Amino acid sequence: MNGNAKPRAYSRSQIFLHWMIALLIGGNYVLSDGIEDAFDGMMEGQPVTDWTASAHVWIGVAVLALVLLRLVVRLVQGAPEAAEGSNRLMDRVAGLVHVGLYGLMIAVPALGAYTWFGATEATADLHVITMNVMMAVIGLHAAAAIFHQFVLKDGLLRRMTRAN
Ligand code: HEM
Ligand code: HEM
Repeated sequence: MNGNAKPRAYSRSQIFLHWMIALLIGGNYVLSDGIEDAFDGMMEGQPVTDWTASAHVWIGVAVLALVLLRLVVRLVQGAPEAAEGSNRLMDRVAGLVHVGLYGLMIAVPALGAYTWFGATEATADLHVITMNVMMAVIGLHAAAAIFHQFVLKDGLLRRMTRAN
């Protein structure tokens, strides 16, 4: 990178964290079948025997830790310059979606952890509601990325697949 010119793609660590976290969030969604019963059982004093429930808890905690790390990396390294062919409205919408995703990626596992480790029913529904909102926003985000790649053909995906 020369002088103050902004890079055209995210850094290697940002790309690694983006896809690693995406994989773990998807994995934890798939591994959520047993957690509700395990949580109800735990609240009644029964031990947790379902491995998928333990996996849900620890994968979720890993997501929280990785997202916090990612946020620090993002604040230190910043983002690449605006995508080619985008306009100010598109940049603003994308920016808002990204901020929303960071917020949700923190809120969802934090609420799950608060529910589980605090052994409280109070935040259980909120964890699931925010999770559903997050999945909807992720769907929108992925659809936008695919639209850029295959309809606008502006090579946007490269920003998140190949570091400078
Ligand atoms: C769990 C799933 C996902 C989450 C939580 C997520 C989250 C994010 C966030 C927060 C950013 C902004 C990065 C930053 O500025 O620091 C981003 C960028 C990006 N994501 Fe995702 N993402 C997910 C899945 C996907 C998928 C499936 C695709 C592709 C189909 C994708 C493609 C991209 C691209 C191309 C960028 C760069 C956008 C740009 O340069 O403006 N993401 N993602
Ligand atoms: C990536 C982060 C996470 C995702 C995508 C996620 C996803 C989900 C989903 C889909 C459910 C609904 C299960 C069902 O209704 O059958 C759920 C429930 C639950 N999750 Fe998570 N979760 C995440 C993080 C966590 C963490 C970190 C914990 C605990 C440390 C946790 C604890 C729970 C608990 C206790 C429930 C049951 C809530 C209830 O009884 O309604 N989750 N989660």
